Amino acid sequence: MKNYVHAIPTKLYFGKGQISRLGEILDQFGKRVLLTYGGGSIKKIGLYDEVIGILNKGGFTVTELSGIEPNPRIESVEEGVRLCKENNIDVILAVGGGSTIDCSKAIAAGVFYEGGDLWQMVDSNHGALKALPLVDILTLSATGSEYDGGAVITNLKTNEKLGNMYTYPAASICDPTYTFTVSKYQTAAGTADIMSHIFEGYFSATEDSDLSDHIAEGVLKTAIKYLPVALAEPDNYTARANLMAVSSVACSGIPEYGKQGTGWPCHAMEHELSAFYDITHGVGLAILTPRWMRFILKKDPSCAWRFVRFAQNVWGIEGEDGLALANAGIDRLESFFKESGIPMTLTELGIGEEHFEEMAAHANFGGYLKNAFVPLTNEDIVEIYKACL
Ligand code: NZQ
Ligand code: ZN
Repeated sequence: MKNYVHAIPTKLYFGKGQISRLGEILDQFGKRVLLTYGGGSIKKIGLYDEVIGILNKGGFTVTELSGIEPNPRIESVEEGVRLCKENNIDVILAVGGGSTIDCSKAIAAGVFYEGGDLWQMVDSNHGALKALPLVDILTLSATGSEYDGGAVITNLKTNEKLGNMYTYPAASICDPTYTFTVSKYQTAAGTADIMSHIFEGYFSATEDSDLSDHIAEGVLKTAIKYLPVALAEPDNYTARANLMAVSSVACSGIPEYGKQGTGWPCHAMEHELSAFYDITHGVGLAILTPRWMRFILKKDPSCAWRFVRFAQNVWGIEGEDGLALANAGIDRLESFFKESGIPMTLTELGIGEEHFEEMAAHANFGGYLKNAFVPLTNEDIVEIYKACL
């Protein structure tokens, strides 16, 4: 087991009705609030009115930034920073999914960024930055942005989508009832994202970090149990609550305690797909993951032990033949994604092979994936992309 140091400063308010704490949470930081949200889902579900009612009652001054895009753009970050400076904002309140929360993290840090060009902040090496306090109300179970310090920002002009560290939310209100309205497509994609956050750490060379492996398997089994329920009954509280709980844990770093880092190969490859084609993150991951698994199993069969464990402990598949078990686990995963309605080929998304080499070179910049569970070269990545067509 490797050494680790870990702290998550975010206070989670989980469960139905936790919004009643919103006024008191914001009051710790000040009265001038930047309210950020996406394309309008929060208005459709009545959450916007509820939030505005609480803010008015509490005497808060509200400035709004709406229209934050899925795969949030640098332009939204720039606009948010401008609004914060102009209105002397004390605290940002992000209401939405990972895109809104991510954009808000970059805004919170961007306010204090001294260089003129905010894309340079996104594209430079740094740890957590000085930032305005950020509070969020989560409406989609997927990214774990409500419980981590990272954010992913897109620049469509340069075809870049870059993850970086910014700031942790001070508080996250996670009320599963707000996710009742999430479409089947986004519910399935979000669950694929949750599961991928686990795979990225689970498939690591470290064999003896039992706690992490059991947490990882528990998250996967919870997601596998409750995704079909949430798809069949969108307002099933237990299903939505379990998906929301695993969303926060999966990307928190906890399932990787004591494990060797991997570079998160599927995320590195997926961010290129989103950067070039603006696709839904979880869909890109669902398409890539089984192909990546088959590729690394073939490239280095000595890693089969991990896939056998996955097949046995997560899917409950039995058998004596290790390689057959390993492959059966991967097949089950692919069928699971397919049955949840996710388009499982890049061709279905209208993506061809024209940019694969450029995307592979960027995903693997500086040999980034040379320390993955099974190291990947640019040529390997192109092959994985091709297997997804
Ligand atoms: O924009 P609105 O109108 O709000 O609609 C959104 C959006 O169209 C909709 N939605 C959200 N909550 C809803 C709802 N529709 C109905 N009812 C609700 N309650 O869902 C659509 C997708 O929203 P988005 O926020 O884009 O989804 P998600 O939470 O999956 O976030 C994806 C972004 O997060 C990044 C991804 O790369 C992508 O840019 N990630 C962030 C991470 C992090 N911060 O740690 C890690 C992840 O690996 C990921 O990379
Ligand atoms: Zn992800």
